[in-house]
Amino acid sequence: MPDCTFYTTAIDYTNAAPHIGHAYEKVLTDVLTRFEKLRTREVYFLTGVDQHGQKVQQSAEKEGLAPQEFADRCTAKFLSLWETLGVQFDGWAATTAPVHKTVVGKILQRLHDEGQLYKQAHRGFYSVRQEQFLTDKERNEAGEFGPEWGQVVELQEENWYFRLAQHRDWLLNFIDSHDSFVVPSFRRPELRNAVERLSGDLCISRPKSRLTWGIELPFDPEYVTYVWFDALINYISFAGYLAEAGSGLPDFNRLWPARAHVIGKDILIPAHGVYWPIMLHALGFSDDQIPTLLVHGWWNIGGAKISKSLGNTVDPAVLVERYGAEALRYYLMADITTGKDADFSEERLRMRFNEELANNVGNLLNRTLNMALRYRSSVLRCPAVDDTSLKALAGPEASSALNAYTQAMEQYQVDAALRAVVGFARACNQLIEASAPWKLAKDPAQAELLDAVLYHLAESLRIIGILLVPVLPDSARGIFQQLNWPHPARLEDATWGKLPEGHVLGTPTPLFPRLEASPEAAD
Ligand code: ME8
Ligand code: MG
Repeated sequence: MPDCTFYTTAIDYTNAAPHIGHAYEKVLTDVLTRFEKLRTREVYFLTGVDQHGQKVQQSAEKEGLAPQEFADRCTAKFLSLWETLGVQFDGWAATTAPVHKTVVGKILQRLHDEGQLYKQAHRGFYSVRQEQFLTDKERNEAGEFGPEWGQVVELQEENWYFRLAQHRDWLLNFIDSHDSFVVPSFRRPELRNAVERLSGDLCISRPKSRLTWGIELPFDPEYVTYVWFDALINYISFAGYLAEAGSGLPDFNRLWPARAHVIGKDILIPAHGVYWPIMLHALGFSDDQIPTLLVHGWWNIGGAKISKSLGNTVDPAVLVERYGAEALRYYLMADITTGKDADFSEERLRMRFNEELANNVGNLLNRTLNMALRYRSSVLRCPAVDDTSLKALAGPEASSALNAYTQAMEQYQVDAALRAVVGFARACNQLIEASAPWKLAKDPAQAELLDAVLYHLAESLRIIGILLVPVLPDSARGIFQQLNWPHPARLEDATWGKLPEGHVLGTPTPLFPRLEASPEAAD
């Protein structure tokens, strides 16, 4: 077992601007990482950008920039978005970094020396736009290569190939014997079928005559490395695999195998589900050194795929400006089930924030602190009171919320975890309605019951704050400040009864101001 939980995400193509699909994946991984920190576990989060390839070269040319300059400019957009969204990573994988290029070179040389690579001529139809040779599978019903392939030319080319097919049976066996390789499991049959159909080897080179923006093959300088082969290696190169002394990279043995590579469903087959495990296997990684793939679904817009050509991309930075980072984080975590697709809507973003945070958690905090201030000068007492509605709310309700939350988070189901928290807050608001503290305050005989209600509400809010830390770190901090409870928080403190007798609560300030429709909103 590695010492440190290690999460990585797919590295984003730098040739396009980041969209909400990218934001979702990073926030999801950030939340999983913060959950580990909340459990006081050591965790490492690696993410980055995929900077080589034809598309970067072409876009750079169009703008009259050197590819590196173009890639750096795009990279800056991703970095600034992660900062505004509170995505806190530990390692940044930019594939043009010299440390990465060195490791890719060493890996290629080693596979070459071990006879895993060979050179061969290939004649066929090539899509310039998709940068790939086409086979008959890609022909439409009319027997033609459709317009989605753009310009198609006939090419004869010599290239380097990786002996992928040789490892087909190993991979089938591996998939059959490792249930947790692909999460959620409904994606496994799809992958298994793809592996069964696997026949050819993987072309891992591009001649410099048509692409120069890549990592040169150490044993054949007329070629650069195919961008996927280069990009996949980021998961190990930036984790310290084959690192040279003084590189400043992490200790690979502490991190590997990664707890999960977090990727979207479009890049499971063939890249992460076929090429990647076979690459690791060919490099001598044992079966239990092959990491889990956590495959999330896609955000669509109005049922359609997000795409630059459809012009329906939503810039996450604009949403942050409109609604704040925490509102976007909350929406992206609450309105999709990990593994499934969802439809993005600004109206739902506002609605969920207003109903679940503003009117529910925020309101609970505000009412509780105001009542405590008004009736008890903010001082908590915790008398033992024999009241059934209170008993139902206290220990049992909090611990079942905590259990549901923890179980869901362990299974990467952040939406379900949030439902547990929001449901608990609703129960607390119901307790306020049911016990009517404003009436209790008028009756001296009910003084103890009033104290008990206020204590239960404050204590519940403390637990709610802890459970919200991974998704809403800033708001959770706000809750702790108002409760006058020290932070950073720990999950082990999310058990009942930690606020001491005589605890003085802070001053109430509205935490989740309601979101209003923006005139520019694309609802
Ligand atoms: O695939 N909803 O980069 P990428 C949710 N560079 N997730 C989405 C999405 C959407 N609408 N659109 C994209 C690449 N993603 C490669 C990865 S890894 C060695 C190389 C996800 O910028 C997508 O599934 O096209 C992927 O996980 C990530 O965003 C980056 O996609
Ligand atoms: Mg993509």
